[in-house]
Amino acid sequence: MKFFIDTANLDQIKEAQDLGVLDGVTTNPSLMAKEGITGEVNIKKHYQAICEIVTGDVSAEVIATDYDNIIKEGEELAALHDQIVVKVPMIKDGIKALRYFSQKGIKTNCTLVFSAGQALLAAKAGATYVSPFIGRLDDISTDGLNLIAEIRQIYDNYAFETEILAASVRHTMHVIDCAKIGADVMTGPLSSIEGLLKHPLTDIGLEKFLADYNKGNQ
Ligand code: E4P
Repeated sequence: MKFFIDTANLDQIKEAQDLGVLDGVTTNPSLMAKEGITGEVNIKKHYQAICEIVTGDVSAEVIATDYDNIIKEGEELAALHDQIVVKVPMIKDGIKALRYFSQKGIKTNCTLVFSAGQALLAAKAGATYVSPFIGRLDDISTDGLNLIAEIRQIYDNYAFETEILAASVRHTMHVIDCAKIGADVMTGPLSSIEGLLKHPLTDIGLEKFLADYNKGNQ
C-alpha cells in the first residue's frame, strides 16, 4: 500500500519524507489556500517545491471545469515536473479529459469520487488513480470504507489498472481498514501516518529494556 500525504505544507511533507515511508503527495485548492498559496504563478512554484522534496507522484488539481481549459491547464501542470499527476474532477468534461490525458501518457487522479458508478467511469476513462473521499462520506453517515470495498471488487472483476487512492482519510483506523480492504494508496494527514507508530506496550517495553540495561551496566 502506498502512503501519500494530503497537504501543501512543506514542513509536514519534509517530515513525512524523512520518515522514509512516503510515496507521494496529494493537494487540492483548499489545501493550497490553507498555506496561503494563491495565484497561478505561486501555485505552480509551490508544486515544483513539493516535487523537489518527494520522489513520488504529486497530484496537482485543475481549476477549470470545461474540457478545453481542463486540457490546457492539465498540460501546463504536467509540464512543470515529471512527478506531477493531473487531478481532474469527476464531471462529464473531466471524464473526457481523463481519456485524453491517458492517451497522451499523462498521469491523472480523478477526484471528488463518492460512488462506485463514478469510480467505474473513471477506470473506463483510463484514470491512473481514482480518489474516493471516505472521510466526507463518513461525515454524512455513509460508510466510506464500504465504497472502497465496492470499488476494489469492481476493479478486480475486470482487472482495471486504475489504482484506488483512498482519500479524505482522517485517522489511523481509516488507514488500517483501507489496507485490509486492499486500497492501493491512501492519502491522509501526517497524524494518520505517525499515529500508526503508537502503542503503549511499545513505550512500556522500551522503558523496561533500557532500565534493565542500565542496571546491568552501572
Ligand atoms: C484528496 O486528494 C483530497 O485532497 C482530500 O483527501 C480531501 O480530504 P478532506 O475531506 O479531509 O478535505
